[in-house]
Amino acid sequence: HPTNKIERNMNATKDKKKLLFICLGNICRSPAAHAVMQKMVDDRHLTAQFEIDSAGIGDWHVGELPDRRMRKHGELRGYRVNHPARQFKAASDFDRFDRIIVMDEENYRIITGQARTQKEADKVVRMADYFRHHASATVPDPYYGGDRDFELALDLIEDGCEGLLEELVSNRECEPFDTHH
Ligand code: 4NP
Repeated sequence: HPTNKIERNMNATKDKKKLLFICLGNICRSPAAHAVMQKMVDDRHLTAQFEIDSAGIGDWHVGELPDRRMRKHGELRGYRVNHPARQFKAASDFDRFDRIIVMDEENYRIITGQARTQKEADKVVRMADYFRHHASATVPDPYYGGDRDFELALDLIEDGCEGLLEELVSNRECEPFDTHH
């Protein structure tokens, strides 16, 4: 019945999972995580159930495309890493997003330090919490590194995004199939 489908669409819009990936500059790790998560969600036909974004702690690169090295390494794996950098805004981003995923402990300290309530602080999680195949406690900053550092960042980001999506599906925070087609 068409009404049921409309209802489901409305619920899906209301219950959209809103994920924000954070790193220091929003030109290497978080725009990569943003692109990886978007592709995983798209490949599983879950696009309509998610809103995915990324932001940086600093304002140095605002408006710039991601670092060309991350664009290249991402493209080699089939990701379009093309989000123009923006700065995290505590005043609106804590309200707008359900989960704020940070790449390292410095990110965690700074972002939780901007939370105004415990509820806001509780939205902040570490990418490393979702690793299933790596023992690292962070996604290290590849900015001052070389090719291997960018590849490692992508390996860790893929591991974390898979773990995060698995958790959302198993918690029933998103439907394991698309109800919109
Ligand atoms: P990201 O890497 O945090 O992964 O985007 C960095 C990019 C730029 C700078 C630091 C980290 N920076 O200092 O300009």
